[in-house]
Amino acid sequence: MNDVKILAIETSCDETAAAVVVNGREVLSNIISSQIDIHTKFGGVVPEVASRKHIEAISLVVQEALDKAGCTLEEIDAVGVTYGPGLVGALLVGMQYAKSLAYAIGKPLIGVNHIEGHISANFIEHKELEPPFVCLVVSGGHSFIVYMKDFGEFEIIGQTRDDAAGEAYDKVARAIGLGYPGGPKIDKLSKEGNANAIKFPRANFHDESLDFSFSGLKSAVLNYLNKMEMTGQEINRADVAASFQKALVDVLVDNAMKTCEMKKVDKIAIAGGVASNSTLRETMISEGNKKGIKVLFPSPILCTDNAAMIGSAAYFEYLKGRKADLSLNAIPNLKLGER
Ligand code: KG4
Ligand code: ZN
Repeated sequence: MNDVKILAIETSCDETAAAVVVNGREVLSNIISSQIDIHTKFGGVVPEVASRKHIEAISLVVQEALDKAGCTLEEIDAVGVTYGPGLVGALLVGMQYAKSLAYAIGKPLIGVNHIEGHISANFIEHKELEPPFVCLVVSGGHSFIVYMKDFGEFEIIGQTRDDAAGEAYDKVARAIGLGYPGGPKIDKLSKEGNANAIKFPRANFHDESLDFSFSGLKSAVLNYLNKMEMTGQEINRADVAASFQKALVDVLVDNAMKTCEMKKVDKIAIAGGVASNSTLRETMISEGNKKGIKVLFPSPILCTDNAAMIGSAAYFEYLKGRKADLSLNAIPNLKLGER
């Protein structure tokens, strides 16, 4: 089969991104225009601002992706775009752009689920990786453990019942005065703290489910900070960061390892923004070593939002003949595996 070159577009949150990816694994360009500096002033992503910034950036970002890849629009075989989940106004900018482009060049349009995109980042990083494997997807908006049966075929084993892992990081970071986005800041500060200093709770479900719950952990941190302040005691922020992180990572790793045992799989991939967390990576590798499970993760630039991962997921959809038409709409709460 001839090479398949996909131009991918991602605008689901606060990064305007475009990439050119060949056969789902080889990245010719991966351009990301981040809005983080603008949203930092507000302590989080402001949806209306995000949409406007996407409109300003999208044409330039797509052109740069094509230039960097050294390819023209005529050489593109399909246009892939994130159609959910995400902020509706932000998604619509990328969607309308992708639809117009696909129509203008007469090439197929492929709608990609953002969470599937995160998982696919592992196919770019690990050229030999093939299903079946277990994937832990942990980002600002999502926390899932999935059993990847085949390319584009998932079984959800566990998911969060309230906050996502990255959301918990961001909220705790704000409470201890670290600002947005909190994940990388807690990751860094934790290295100076004692992870066993404060015993924060790990949510356990009676029904043996491998779901997560992080809002209780977040509340426990807030209560701890409150109590310390009320009683005039000094707060060691590094200890709070490290202890919170340990409680969260322990649960992620535990549930992921249990899933590997349950599914008799010896490969686990991590994906999403939180997958760049150093403690999560280290703990997963050391537990994996004990159990003979190989642990894989993408490089940090492929963990946080980018369009190369969308180009990879779009390729596997393309192979399955799952093409969209111009009626494709943005679905802000699109579920994993839903089409
Ligand atoms: O995947 P992503 O870029 O966007 C979503 O799809 O949500 O993930 C962003 C999330 C944020 O919550 C951010 O705080 C978190 O990933 N994050 C981290 C780290 N880097 C980013 N969390 C923990 N440790 C990190 N090093
Ligand atoms: Zn994401």
